[in-house]
Formats: sequence, structure tokens, C-alpha cells
Amino acid sequence: METVVSGIRPTGNLHLGNYFGAVKSFLQMQNEYNCYFFIADWHSLTTHPKPADIVKSARTILAEYLACGIDPEKATIYIQSDVKEVLELYLYLNMNAYLGELERTTSFKDKARKQPDNVNAGLLTYPTLMAADILMHKAVKVPVGKDQEQNMEMARKFARRFNTMYGTEIFPEPASFSLSDKAVKVPGLDGSGKMGKSEGNCIYLMDDAETVRKKVMKAVTDAGPTTPNSEKPEVIQNLFTFLDIVSTKDTYDYFNEKYNDCSIRYGDLKKQLAADVVAFTEPIRERILEFSSDTQLLDKIAKTGAEKSSESAAKTLKEVRQIIGFREI
Ligand code: TRP
Repeated sequence: METVVSGIRPTGNLHLGNYFGAVKSFLQMQNEYNCYFFIADWHSLTTHPKPADIVKSARTILAEYLACGIDPEKATIYIQSDVKEVLELYLYLNMNAYLGELERTTSFKDKARKQPDNVNAGLLTYPTLMAADILMHKAVKVPVGKDQEQNMEMARKFARRFNTMYGTEIFPEPASFSLSDKAVKVPGLDGSGKMGKSEGNCIYLMDDAETVRKKVMKAVTDAGPTTPNSEKPEVIQNLFTFLDIVSTKDTYDYFNEKYNDCSIRYGDLKKQLAADVVAFTEPIRERILEFSSDTQLLDKIAKTGAEKSSESAAKTLKEVRQIIGFREI
């Protein structure tokens, strides 16, 4: 079975954009591949989070993943900092990662611009740590968004470079499994194209019904169509895209007809949309609350995941050490 690895930086709660953009694909992949889904808490240190936030945010994502249906019986779910092997591979890969290429990555340049007082070496070597995450499991597929494409190219380059340098084929070149192509893009309801944390327009899986309703009812609309069958402006198209994602086909068709004969009332559409979003998020929210309240269970799941991940990583590291020329102890 082919191996898949994907990491998520623990930077807050999951929103509908995360769910339909990534988690939903993970749910399918866990049935078809040997999956490792991990929480990239070491990567998050580049911005110097507080210790209390580190513990909380890893548990939050873990509870949310589980509540969404990522199944620890099928996939290996772990917290990056629980699996120390990755650090050793990170060190080896750093020996063949060149300053020039690391400095040229757009994510490094972006972050250096955003946090000029904290341009640390971890930020610079972010791509090597990410490559280590992937290569230690010899993953062949990595589901990522478009923004990670350059990091993926680096991971492939580091894999090739190591193989060539030592004349081995230990690392397969990991292919990006573009989530952006396959997954549904959830639009923002504030007139912006996409739902995202930095856009501040997210509906979170953890939002209660009232919060969801308020957010949906605030969605930007226009004065309404005046000619039958007219094209939908972007803000209206966004609402329909949303309906398409969370509502039934009948609901979609109903409002689409109303739009086309110019009798649509956006208030009605939003009310229905809010109800359908709540019907989707509410059961997930309840499961998140259940998992979150059982930290013992969460820790047990994290521990089992770490053990499974360590086992896979240790195998790779043993080979790597031999290849590099270290003696066995
Ligand atoms: N860099 C990824 C992001 O910001 C997170 C990540 C870290 C990752 N290591 C990974 C993703 C390995 C895929 C595989 O989204």
C-alpha cells in the first residue's frame, strides 16, 4: 500500500474551508493508503508560541480530526514532537540543503518580511524539516494545498540529492497530491473569494448554532436580479456554491429557480443555508466536545500514533545511518 503523509500546523480551530479543502480528502485516503496524519507542532515554533498554547493547540486539532472521522485504527495520527527520529533526519538533510536555495523560497521571504525581528534558522530550514517529515516514512504522496508546492519541490530535491550523493534509492520522490485541484473550495461569505483564517471570515466546526446563524445571515448580497436568467455576481455565486456544498440538490435547485425568475429573497436563502450548515457542523461540534473533555483518551491515541510513527521512522533512520557510514551500536 502506498504511503501518504500530511501535516497541519496547529494554529487554531478547523473551519469549513479546512474540512472540505483537506479533511474530507483525508477521510477517503485513510481507506486507500497507509496514511500518516500529524500535527506539526515543531514547525509552529518558528513564531515562538507560549508553552500553554502548544499543549492546548495540539490537543485541539487532535480532537477535531477525530471528531471529523479520521480513524486511528486506519490512519496513524501523531504529534510531530512525539517522534524524535525526524530530528535526526532533519540534521542529515540540512547538511545538503544550501543557504541560497533556502533563502530563495517564497515562504521564507514572506515570513522574513512579516516577522523581521525574528528571522530565525528554524524559519530558514522549515523546508528541510518538512522534507524529513515526509521522507522518514518514505511517503510517495503528500496531500497539500497549492501554497506548499515550493516546499514539496524542495522535499523532492532533497530526496534526489541524498540518493545521488550516496548512490542509493532509499527515498522515493514524494508527489504532491494537490488538494486544491480535487477539493471543493469553500467561499467566504464576506465577498472575498475563499474562507481562510487570514481573511477572518471562517465558520468553525466548533461554532455553536447561534454563531453559525449570525455569520451566515451577515453574508454579503446585492439588490437582487432584475432580468431573468442573469449571470450571478460573485457574492451571490458564493452563496450558491455554499448551498451546493452543504444543502440538498432540491434546495439548490429551488433557490436557483427563484434567482432565475427574479423572485429570490436572499433572507430565505440565508435562513435555509444557516440551517443546513448547522445540521452539518452540530454533530461534529458535539463529538469535538466529547473528545476534548477526555484528555486521557486523546493522550492515549497520541501515544499509540507516536509509537506507530516511531516504528516506521526508526526503520528508515537505521538504513540512513548505515548509508551515511555510521557504525551500528
Ligand atoms: N508546511 C505545511 C503547512 O504549512 C505543514 C507541514 C509540515 C506538512 N510538514 C508537512 C504538510 C509534511 C505535508 C507534509 O501547511
